[in-house]
Amino acid sequence: HKNLTVNKKGHLEISGCDAVELANKYGTPLYVMDESLIRENCRIYKNELHSLHPDSGVIYAAKAFITMSMCKIVKEEGLFLDVVSGGELYTAIKAGFPLERVYFHGNNKSYEELKMALEHRVGHIVVDNFYELEMLSSLTRKLKKKAKVLLRITPGIEAHTHDYIKTGQIDSKFGFSLENGMAMAAVEEALNIKGVKLVGFHCHIGSQIFEAEPFALTAEVMMKFVNSVKEQYGFETSQLDFGGGFGIKYTEDDKPLHPREYLKALVESVKKWANELNVTVPRIMIEPGRAIVGPAGVTLYTIGAIKDIPNVRKYVCVDGGMSDNIRPALYGAKYTAIIANKANKPPKEVVSIAGKCCESGDMLIWDIKLPEVESGDILAVLSTGAYHYSMASNYNMIPRPAIVFVKEGVSWLSVKRETYEDLLKNEISEEEEKVASH
Ligand code: LLP
Repeated sequence: HKNLTVNKKGHLEISGCDAVELANKYGTPLYVMDESLIRENCRIYKNELHSLHPDSGVIYAAKAFITMSMCKIVKEEGLFLDVVSGGELYTAIKAGFPLERVYFHGNNKSYEELKMALEHRVGHIVVDNFYELEMLSSLTRKLKKKAKVLLRITPGIEAHTHDYIKTGQIDSKFGFSLENGMAMAAVEEALNIKGVKLVGFHCHIGSQIFEAEPFALTAEVMMKFVNSVKEQYGFETSQLDFGGGFGIKYTEDDKPLHPREYLKALVESVKKWANELNVTVPRIMIEPGRAIVGPAGVTLYTIGAIKDIPNVRKYVCVDGGMSDNIRPALYGAKYTAIIANKANKPPKEVVSIAGKCCESGDMLIWDIKLPEVESGDILAVLSTGAYHYSMASNYNMIPRPAIVFVKEGVSWLSVKRETYEDLLKNEISEEEEKVASH
């Protein structure tokens, strides 16, 4: 974790900000996002892809982490934005994100969401199914608008990753599958809709991938499809979007490749097959989410109760848990942590980090070696920038944490901590209900 250092006090520093001071100033649990590292990751992906193939673009997958300030960073770094819901689109609109740079995803977009996208002139709609194609057909007619469309294809490639987050196999709720002629039928239908301008295809083979090979294989499958579409309909694909999935390091066991390795395999395969099949190399897009924000996030907790069961286990409880990090409970995800106020102390005991939710499964880390742990210590869990805030819940009526951005020694509050009033703000009292129904 290259943005983490230890200062003279022996405290953990995140981009030059003392983590203990951040915890004191903003309270815990606290999501800390390193703006410098987010920007660096944006640039690495953009520049590496560009150097391999200039006609390319990086689409940041907002589902990993989206706030208005994140939209601003993405805008300034010149990336595109992948949104999957009206809510994510609304955030982008409110943040002043250039909407022609938005790709609208989702396997069950509603009529209202599609209407919103068309009215705001969203750049591309990634169509997932026939139901959506039909809705687009009638909506574009009604609104007298044209939609630039990519069709989501299920290439049938299984990336090496956790079962629950595999989305590329044939038996999937996402996209048009290749094998049974479904994808070809979708092309024919899209080409026949007046309000739809088909520009290319999209696919996504999974998440937290550590190998380059699946990307090369996907490129091959997609280019062969591009060729058959050309042969059958004379259609020239101008854009191919290969989705995200580039792995990051959570613990020492994770061995992600350098972004260049994934992208090189991908681009070289596209070019090789373009040459072999005699089709033009399309514009190449990728959609990283985790790789942009994951390593840039740290969650700070205060340690409270410590339950030592002699010869069995020492449970160390923090003031958050599955409400701010569902990933261990949902995927068995593993994490590393540091005691922020003892960052220079050697490890001494093996403990397990428990959340505060009323579920035995609410464990953040099993068996981690830390310096001597005491109540009041500040625990920093690393690599929590992706799919943490965006997947947070109010389970057990726990308010969602605040988000602080840090950058070269400066910190600023980006999202306030939720309050108890926030938890009740949509509840209607009996009196209000009576007034409303009369
Ligand atoms: N594009 C599409 C169409 C996607 O479905 C996804 C992720 C991405 C891009 C971004 O993938 P990334 O680069 O972040 O791997 N909640 C899970 C991950 C689910 C990913 C879903 N789709 C987790 O916490 O690991």
